[in-house]
Amino acid sequence: MQPEIEMATAADATDVIALWHSCGLTRPWNDPQADFDLALTTPTSTILTARNPMAIVGTVMVGFDGHRGWVYYLAVDPSLRRSGLGRHLMAAAEAWLRRAGSPKIQLMVRGDNQAAVGFYQALGYQIQDVLTIGRRLDGGNN
Ligand SMILES: CC(C)(COP(=O)(O)OP(=O)(O)OC[C@H]1O[C@@H](n2cnc3c(N)ncnc32)[C@H](O)[C@@H]1OP(=O)(O)O)[C@@H](O)C(=O)NCCC(=O)NCCS
Repeated sequence: MQPEIEMATAADATDVIALWHSCGLTRPWNDPQADFDLALTTPTSTILTARNPMAIVGTVMVGFDGHRGWVYYLAVDPSLRRSGLGRHLMAAAEAWLRRAGSPKIQLMVRGDNQAAVGFYQALGYQIQDVLTIGRRLDGGNN
């Protein structure tokens, strides 16, 4: 049976960020604490968590921009992979976005993360022929 999915609170920051590190999701140019805080304090986004009695074992950050829903920081504890938890978290992300009124769900996968592509394809997601183009608005370099 899969764990219940709950919204993260500020008290979860340390555990959530530790999971993101152990899942290889952090990058030097992104401050995970700032990402965590912003997702929780922005009215149209949140972080969903799965926890067992010991720890937070899964996360997904989700937000609705008024046109599409976006997913970030999908993470499953390495020791619990391939048991359906990633699928369970994505179902919770989809349900959250439906409730928010989002007609679409979208996500970005780093070009070298073929494992994640395989995962999303197993869930019925399709690769779309778009380029993402961006720049920082806070003076950073990446
Ligand atoms: C991607 C990730 C969340 C998948 O979590 P998981 O709990 O292992 O996935 P599930 O067990 O729910 O798998 C669901 C389906 O995806 C498939 N799948 C999972 N990992 C896969 C992989 N590495 N390659 C191909 N298919 C994969 C499974 O076979 C399963 O298909 P099935 O139900 O038809 O058998 C997990 O591997 C992870 O945390 N990776 C590191 C962080 C990451 O890359 N996140 C995504 C950033 S875009």
